Amino acid sequence: MSDLFASSEASPPVRLFDASPFDVIPAFADVEPGDAQRWSTWPAVTPSERGPLPWPAWVVTSAGALDTELGILKTGKEADVFLLERAVPDDPAQRTLLAAKRYRDSDHSSFHRSGVYTEGRTTRNTRDARALARKSEHGRAVAAAQWSFAEFQALCRMWELGAPVPYPVQVSGSEVLMEFIGHADGTAAPRLAQVRADGAQLGGLYDQIVDLMRVFASAGFAHGDLSAYNLLVHEGRVRVIDLPQIVDIVANPQGLDLLHRDCVNICEWFTRRRVERDAEELFAEMLAAS
Ligand SMILES: Nc1ncnc2c1ncn2[C@@H]1O[C@H](COP(=O)(O)OP(=O)(O)OP(=O)(O)O)[C@@H](O)[C@H]1O
Ligand SMILES: [Mg+2]
Repeated sequence: MSDLFASSEASPPVRLFDASPFDVIPAFADVEPGDAQRWSTWPAVTPSERGPLPWPAWVVTSAGALDTELGILKTGKEADVFLLERAVPDDPAQRTLLAAKRYRDSDHSSFHRSGVYTEGRTTRNTRDARALARKSEHGRAVAAAQWSFAEFQALCRMWELGAPVPYPVQVSGSEVLMEFIGHADGTAAPRLAQVRADGAQLGGLYDQIVDLMRVFASAGFAHGDLSAYNLLVHEGRVRVIDLPQIVDIVANPQGLDLLHRDCVNICEWFTRRRVERDAEELFAEMLAAS
């Protein structure tokens, strides 16, 4: 496990914060991060890189906390998701599990999100824009960080609107830290695709998905990559994840097509499980909500 933090080093954060152990607080003076550990990165990020206020009570903000890598949840096409414990040593009240989603730079990514998602997005910093165009090492790090910031901002926005997304704790460089959806023992919630449920239960899950799609649509957004793999089911409640590509239904020329595709993906999945749902009806409902 000792080199598990290596993947974040492979795509260096674009903004370099000093994440060294700050001025050591006397109470923690004898604590040193061990293998697969680092000091909590919370003190090193700016307020805009922290999740929406009020912070949930479980968010550990102490500068004396350690981040411990507990394992990998999933390696994906363009990011890997790790299970992380953030805890103050010897203080059980300040211990929480987080999901750390780390974007790879494009050299280490086997999948490139289509340009349709990014149409109209601009890069304000000209040095970054040039680096992106050149695809230099800095440019690749900028690209990875852009996805992590895009996902963090989308999570914040949807959280504030009351959509059932994991609470976004913080973003730093190419890493997004968010609420871990799963059990306290570190078992992650299954994706909808893995859930065994009868017709009535599936019907209830479908209704929850329509509700969350309506929250997105009312704010003018479509998820853009909605599927049974980007929905987690925890204790009967649906959470939607994987948001970096959310699309503005009106401003993005492909917005309506992507919203339609989300509707088709979801309805086909349920219909294959004999819970027949009509994609066109759902699409019409989302248009009315938007
Ligand atoms: N907050 C979370 N809590 C628990 N598990 C999570 C969380 N976020 C992600 N995961 C797990 O990691 C997987 C990948 O996450 P996500 O879909 O965001 O990344 P991805 O890179 O798009 O992956 P993929 O290429 O498989 O779509 C999820 O399917 C889920 O199993
Ligand atoms: Mg995904």
